[in-house]
Amino acid sequence: MDKLIITGGEVLEGEIRISGAKNAVLPIMAATLLADSPVTIRNIPHLHDVTTTMELLGRMGVHLTLNEKMDIVVDATTIHSLYAPYELVRTMRSSILVLGPMLSRFGRADVSLPGGCAIGSRPVNLHIKGLQAMGAEVEVINGYIRARVGRLKGARLVMDLVTVTGTENLMMAATLAEGTTLIENAAREPEVTDLANCLNCMGAKISGAGTDTIVIEGVERLSGIEYKVLPDRIEAGSYLVAAAITGGHVKLKDTRPDIMDAVLQSLREAGADITVGDDWIELHMHGKRPRAVDVSTAPYPAFPTDMQAQFTALNAVSEGTGTITETVFENRFMHVQEMQRMGAKIQLKGNTAISKGVERLTGAQVMATDLRASASLVLAGLVADGETTIDRIYHIDRGYERIEEKLAQLGANIRRVPG
Ligand code: EPU
Repeated sequence: MDKLIITGGEVLEGEIRISGAKNAVLPIMAATLLADSPVTIRNIPHLHDVTTTMELLGRMGVHLTLNEKMDIVVDATTIHSLYAPYELVRTMRSSILVLGPMLSRFGRADVSLPGGCAIGSRPVNLHIKGLQAMGAEVEVINGYIRARVGRLKGARLVMDLVTVTGTENLMMAATLAEGTTLIENAAREPEVTDLANCLNCMGAKISGAGTDTIVIEGVERLSGIEYKVLPDRIEAGSYLVAAAITGGHVKLKDTRPDIMDAVLQSLREAGADITVGDDWIELHMHGKRPRAVDVSTAPYPAFPTDMQAQFTALNAVSEGTGTITETVFENRFMHVQEMQRMGAKIQLKGNTAISKGVERLTGAQVMATDLRASASLVLAGLVADGETTIDRIYHIDRGYERIEEKLAQLGANIRRVPG
C-alpha cells in the first residue's frame, strides 16, 4: 500500500486548481440511472470513490465511457442487474445512493446494507423509512435492503434528522414518483442543490433545494444531458488550512467561496487575510502563526464535519487554546491520538477536542482509518520537524485528487512511496 512521506517546515505558496466535488459527483453518477438516454458528467475528480462507483454501475450493466476531455458518459439503458453487492457497498457507503433511483425507475432494488464505519454507526433507516412512506415494500434480508414497488407515490416526508445522502436518495426517488413529494428538514448542503440542478436539467421538477423544504413534482421520464459538477468545498478548505498552518500564501482557482462561509469565517478568526472573487480564493498569513479557534460542526450552512479534522490540526499548532466540537458523527476523532503521537497537546472530553497549541509538532509514522482524518495528518506533517510517514493513504485517494502533486506545487516537501 502506498505511503506519503512529508518533511515538514516549508511555507506553502502558489496557485492550484480545485477539482470537482466528491460528494456531488457520487450522487450525480447514481442519478444517471434515472435517465432514458446517456448523461455526460463534466469536471470529474479522479478519485478512488469515482472508480468504485463506475465499477458498481458497470456491474449493473450500465455502459460507461470516458471521452477525450475525461468526462464520463453514462448510458443506463443497458442496465440488466438491479443489485448492489456487499463487497462494493462495504468499501463505499455512498453506494446506497443507487437505491432510490433504481427503485423509482425500475420498481425494484437489492442493495447491501453498508454496515458500520470508522466514524460512527451511520444507519440508513431514514432512507428506508422515506421510501416506505412513498409506498415501497422494503425489508432487510440477509444484510440486503430488498425494495419493491409498482410506482412510487408522492408523500410528505418529515426527516427526523438532517441527512445528506438520505435527502439525495429520496429526492432522486421522488423525481419519477406519481404526484408531489415534500421533504421537510431536508439537508441544505450545496451538493444536494447541485444534484437538484442536475436532475432539473434532466427534466425533473424540483424546487426549494438549498432550503429545508424541497418539493418534487413527479414526472414520467428523465433524459440525458451534459452537466458540470460543483467544485469541492472540502478540498478547497483543506488547502486553505494547509496554507494557514504553514504561515503561507495561496490562491485557489475554480472554486466557490460563496458555499464556504463558515470555513472562511473560522480561518479569518485564525488570523488569515482572505480575499475572494466569484471563482477564486486567496489566503495570506503574512508569515504569522495562526490563532486557535473554537468551532462546532453541524449541517450546512454551519461548520462542516468534513473540515473538523483539518481544523484540529490547525489548532494543534496555533497560538492559544481552541475547542472543536463534533455534533454530526459520534466517533470522528481518530486523528487526535495520532496527532498526540506527533506531540500535539489535545485533550478529548466527550465530543470536544481541546487543544493547547504547540509551536511545532514532531514527525512520526502515523495512519488513519478515514478520509478526512488522514488528510489532517498530512496537514500536521507539513508543520512537523523531520519526517512524517502516513500509511493507508488509500483513504486520501478516495477523496483528494493527486494530493501530493497539488501540495508539491505549493512548495511542500512530500512524496508518494509505493508500498
Ligand atoms: N443518520 C441516521 N439515519 C439515517 C441517515 C443518517 O441516523 O438514515 C445519521 C448519521 O449516522 C449521522 C447523521 O445522521 O450521525 C448525518 O449523516 P448523513 O446522512 O448526513 O451523512 P451521509 O449522507 O452518510 C454525507 C457525506 C459525508 C459527510 C456527511 C455529513 C457523501 C457521499 N457523504 O454522508 O462525507 O460527512 O454527509 O455532512 O455525501 C466525507 O466526504 O469524508 C464524508 C464522510
